[in-house]
Amino acid sequence: MGYRADRINRFMAMQQSGPIGGLAYLEIGVHEGSTLAEVNCGRKVGVDPSFSPEREAVQAKVGDHVTLHEMTSNSYFEVSQETFDFIYIDGLHHWEQVYSDFVCSLARLRPGGLILLDDTLPIDWFSMRRNKAFSIQSRRFLKPKARHRHAWHGDVFKVVPLVASFHRDLEWATFDRGNGQTLFWRRLEWADEHSSSTGSPVTTSERKPLRRIGNEEYFWFLKNRALFQIVSEQGFRLSRRAS
Ligand SMILES: C[S@@+](CC[C@H](N)C(=O)[O-])C[C@H]1O[C@@H](n2cnc3c(N)ncnc32)[C@H](O)[C@@H]1O
Repeated sequence: MGYRADRINRFMAMQQSGPIGGLAYLEIGVHEGSTLAEVNCGRKVGVDPSFSPEREAVQAKVGDHVTLHEMTSNSYFEVSQETFDFIYIDGLHHWEQVYSDFVCSLARLRPGGLILLDDTLPIDWFSMRRNKAFSIQSRRFLKPKARHRHAWHGDVFKVVPLVASFHRDLEWATFDRGNGQTLFWRRLEWADEHSSSTGSPVTTSERKPLRRIGNEEYFWFLKNRALFQIVSEQGFRLSRRAS
């Protein structure tokens, strides 16, 4: 099983304290359906404007019980009000689109729900370019001996400071095994037993205005790495707060 599905199944098990069959899962950006196929819950929905190699092949891979929508996430959120326990955001890797997906996902999240965001930890200047082909070609040209030659993350990481600034009810933790991924939850619903975090570490004076974050570069990420709250996945636990 891929580490993404493995991680998602584990977090869902924390939500349910047991079998996760009854939970509902939404994946934005499905591609070939590798992760969607391996997530173990009963209700699964995938959204992608261009499944690979085509929708029929992905449907066969994930099974007939899975609902696929061949459309952009924007179109999907316009036509569907369905709610979910777990939403995995892995669509277009431009921060404006990811933030839009994030806000729409929050509106569709059931009580106790979790959102996982893919590719929140760029590994170098090249990996955070918005154009994937340019990212890989420029690394190949300028750093021909680079170890992670094909790594690409886009500028998804900019969503984390936006959440820190504009969603004070949320908490998060980032996992760096494989591509970095950040998990978000509502503070009033969950206690994080692992980290010493007591909410957003960003003070009011440090908040990043929306219009400035778009221009920030890899150096900003390096300087503000602590904001991402990278934790060890092994010991990470969430437990529901008593209501
Ligand atoms: C990295 S792949 C997804 C991989 C998949 N989540 C997995 O774990 O196997 C990104 C996918 O996002 C899709 N995508 C691009 N723009 C999108 C949009 N506006 N809305 C939803 N999906 C989009 C692409 O077609 C591509 O298949």
